[in-house]
Amino acid sequence: MRIEIITLFPELLKSPFEVSILKRAIESGTVQVNFHDIRAFSTQKQKKVDDYPFGGGAGMVMMIEPIDRCIEALKKKRDYDAIIYLTPDGETLNQKSANHYSTLKNIILLCGHYKGVDHRVRDYLITKEISIGDFVLSGGELAAAVFCDSVIRLIPGVLGNESSALTDSFQDNLLAPPIYTRPAKYKNWEVPEILTSGNTPKVEQWRDNKAMERTKKLRPDLLK
Ligand code: ADE
Repeated sequence: MRIEIITLFPELLKSPFEVSILKRAIESGTVQVNFHDIRAFSTQKQKKVDDYPFGGGAGMVMMIEPIDRCIEALKKKRDYDAIIYLTPDGETLNQKSANHYSTLKNIILLCGHYKGVDHRVRDYLITKEISIGDFVLSGGELAAAVFCDSVIRLIPGVLGNESSALTDSFQDNLLAPPIYTRPAKYKNWEVPEILTSGNTPKVEQWRDNKAMERTKKLRPDLLK
């Protein structure tokens, strides 16, 4: 998978890709992530990339031209399956859509900043708008990092143990069961006995029951 991230602040985005699972996914060549600084595509003096909104009002608006020039340059080299704008009024990302995006080959992510982008970017250049939740971030960069993390870990081969993504919360509309590790007793707190019994079918049964119990209690909406 190839991900192009278009942003005014590449430095805000780089570190999540430099550690742990995302780092390994990149090093193994399973995924390629490239950052594109919108400022480099400005044709104006002082590399201006934003301007006041027509009609007045607070805040600056990201101009269409540098964004268009950047996307055009990318599209000249290859086709993209999706050109995604991260925005709080987009479709909310969930495990199902993350699974879908993990099957795509080439995608572009556009991060907005300030008041957002000139709406013509959304009308004419973007194919999908995604939100990571009903709250407003200062820009799309952290949302892009969240999107990439949730999607990349689902690409086959990225997680050491393949089944580990399959047992994540939400993967089958259930929350994950509790997990524990050594020591079996810490202070007076003990792990459920069944987990140290060595009885795998019983353990599986226990995990299924706990997953259902936690989902009913914490997220009954997932069961509807
Ligand atoms: N940009 C600002 N807030 C956002 C959010 N909640 N999701 C995606 N992009 C955003």
